[in-house]
Amino acid sequence: MANSLPQDLGIDTLCIHGGHSAESNRAHLTPIYTSSTYTFDTAEQAIAVFKGDEKGYIYGRWGNPTITEAEEKIALLEAYGLKDENGNQLQLKAILHASGMAALCTMLMGNLKAGQKVITHQSLYGGTHELVEKILPDLGIDSVIVDFHDLQAVENAIQSDSAIALMHIETPANPTLQCVDLEALSAIGKRHGLVVCADNTFATPYLQQPFKYAVDYVMHSTTKFLNGHGTAIGGVLVGKDMDRMNKGLTKMHRLLGGNSNAFDAFLLTNGLRTFALRMERHCANAIAVADFLHNHPLVERVNYLGLSSHPDYAIAQKQMRHAGAMLSFELKGGFDAGVNFINRLRLCTNAVSLGTCDTLVCHAASSTHMGVPREKRLEFGITDGLIRMSVGMENIGDIINDLAQAIN
Ligand SMILES: Cc1ncc(COP(=O)(O)O)c(C=O)c1O
Repeated sequence: MANSLPQDLGIDTLCIHGGHSAESNRAHLTPIYTSSTYTFDTAEQAIAVFKGDEKGYIYGRWGNPTITEAEEKIALLEAYGLKDENGNQLQLKAILHASGMAALCTMLMGNLKAGQKVITHQSLYGGTHELVEKILPDLGIDSVIVDFHDLQAVENAIQSDSAIALMHIETPANPTLQCVDLEALSAIGKRHGLVVCADNTFATPYLQQPFKYAVDYVMHSTTKFLNGHGTAIGGVLVGKDMDRMNKGLTKMHRLLGGNSNAFDAFLLTNGLRTFALRMERHCANAIAVADFLHNHPLVERVNYLGLSSHPDYAIAQKQMRHAGAMLSFELKGGFDAGVNFINRLRLCTNAVSLGTCDTLVCHAASSTHMGVPREKRLEFGITDGLIRMSVGMENIGDIINDLAQAIN
């Protein structure tokens, strides 16, 4: 049982054992519970389970044992080594969703009402940006977009607009890898009574723990490093206010219907067992790739948070255990150089997404950002020859050899 595990376990041990509960049929691993509904012995038992007086499952959209294991594992990883205000181990609750976007929707809809506003940074995952800019306004929720590097501007914006009720921080940001100061931003948000949420998808709890900085929520696209194998779309919302999580946010999750399913949860749990080990390898390979690219004569610029030349290097050093496995680089020769590079690759995979075992590479101008007008794209820092890379776990020599033969 998760709650009978010894205290103070290491993070690799938590990845493997955390969240696991003994199973009634003595299955070693928690099976894939595909039942859509759950039975009761008596009407009285149903009453007790519905009231929450007795633990139990009711209906698949509300959860099942396979989902619970993934949720508890992620909650333990986000809380790893952190204390609450009374000096006790921080307790968190995670709610698994069908996607990162579904987790984000539950968080936003569960905390904002028409007439209120969200403040966020200009560099965000495209889907988040569109949700905030195109969908929320129709529900009466507007956004205030500020450069989160400029803390005074953030403070001024909040002070001058009492409708701002929630701060959403994504760091490092997709795809620019901009990194903003979680501690300082969360402090500003909390000083003004805002709800603060951090999207920890790129860093993962292995490299960065936003709850250290008093945020209220962390969300992830579990599709990425947490699953680690590219086998399932998923998302998770993690919170520290148990009452809010168990009531308002659970209700929102159930009613919006963005629930996960047993098969995806099983794949996620399976991936999480090797999560810490995988991150070590991803990160070690990423430094080697960044060094190789940095010294390559046909590479104009490398954006890697572990290089001291990165403008956000100091912030990353302060709040991340390691600069991570994501980088982007600009090839000399612009758009054509980007297309040629992608076409010459023999090992690295040409695909969007990130955090899988294999190295994923994408040329933004000819794929993810093809529809964005060039001027707008350049404004976001997405230049013509920009290649985004999620460094995988292959032997480092093989990755570098493939890049070397493709860049010429
Ligand atoms: C930082 C970030 N947040 C949220 C999402 C949305 O996650 P999903 O695609 O699982 O819905 C993504 C997807 O790429 C992302 O990169």
